[in-house]
Amino acid sequence: MKVLVAESLTKQFGNFTALNGVSLHVEEGEVYGFIGPNGAGKSTTIRILLGALKASSGKAAIFQKDVWIDAVEIHKRLAYVPGDVNLWPNLTGGEVIDLFGRMRGSYNKKRKNELIEQFSFDPSKKCRTYSKGNRQKVALIAAFSAEADLYILDEPTSGLDPLMERVFQDCVMAEKERGKSILLSSHILSEVERLCDRVGIIREGEIIESGTLEELRHLTRTNLSVQTKEPLVGLSAMNGVHDVLQEEDGTLHFQVDGEELGTVMKHISAHGVVKLESAPPTLEDLFMRHYEGRGAQR
Ligand SMILES: Nc1ncnc2c1ncn2[C@@H]1O[C@H](COP(=O)(O)OP(=O)(O)O)[C@@H](O)[C@H]1O
Ligand SMILES: [Mg+2]
Repeated sequence: MKVLVAESLTKQFGNFTALNGVSLHVEEGEVYGFIGPNGAGKSTTIRILLGALKASSGKAAIFQKDVWIDAVEIHKRLAYVPGDVNLWPNLTGGEVIDLFGRMRGSYNKKRKNELIEQFSFDPSKKCRTYSKGNRQKVALIAAFSAEADLYILDEPTSGLDPLMERVFQDCVMAEKERGKSILLSSHILSEVERLCDRVGIIREGEIIESGTLEELRHLTRTNLSVQTKEPLVGLSAMNGVHDVLQEEDGTLHFQVDGEELGTVMKHISAHGVVKLESAPPTLEDLFMRHYEGRGAQR
């Protein structure tokens, strides 16, 4: 069942088109990654989905209800975390979390205390003293202790260190296991790819690719650095190998298409691996592939 459906959303700010026909959906029990660089239109889409901004055209529904008309109903079952959390400066973090909870009507106090522990959060300080990361934690703890069916998270980890990022990921997985649905936006593909069942990639107000990461593999290339005992002859002639560069010490740097990675790895290991480093494709790499692909079709 689809928990969230957006169809052909457009948004004009004056003459500027921020969204140009954005369609996406989130299935019940899935994590949907909404990926795109800064300024692509992620937050604008999300504000429309929250009923905080009216679309210029198109429509969107959450729990089969219209996001603009039925916002109040929808929000009873929805939790939202923005990327830039503003709080009441004179309340403590703990007071704000409880306030969020009371405004919702119900929240899980036991879960709240677990989350405070997991995020190593000190709820006794005034919000004005919190760093960006700590303000982020307030919103995350409030959201994950809410009994929501859909979580809309707009770059929620922008201020968190890697350890806390991990805690966040565990929270997302826990909600998913409970059958909850999550829309997670990010401008960093690798940060969300291990969480997401499907992703949609937005650029300049348009969804340019969507599907499971498996389906998007044709767009991704892994960056490899390799040193082998015997010279790696014939590498650059192999299918799916690109941009081979050789250093003086013999280390080779190159890129491999996702679908050819297995074959290439076999070839490499037959030559005695001395050193092997791999880096995932970046979002920028992925966009490059996308536009190269389109160019070739013309
Ligand atoms: N209220 C607004 N008025 C004018 N332009 C806006 C407004 N809100 C967002 N924009 C513009 O719309 C584009 C998309 O912004 P946004 O949705 O915040 O992107 P993202 O969240 O992907 O970084 C940007 O070019 C931004 O400057
Ligand atoms: Mg944004």
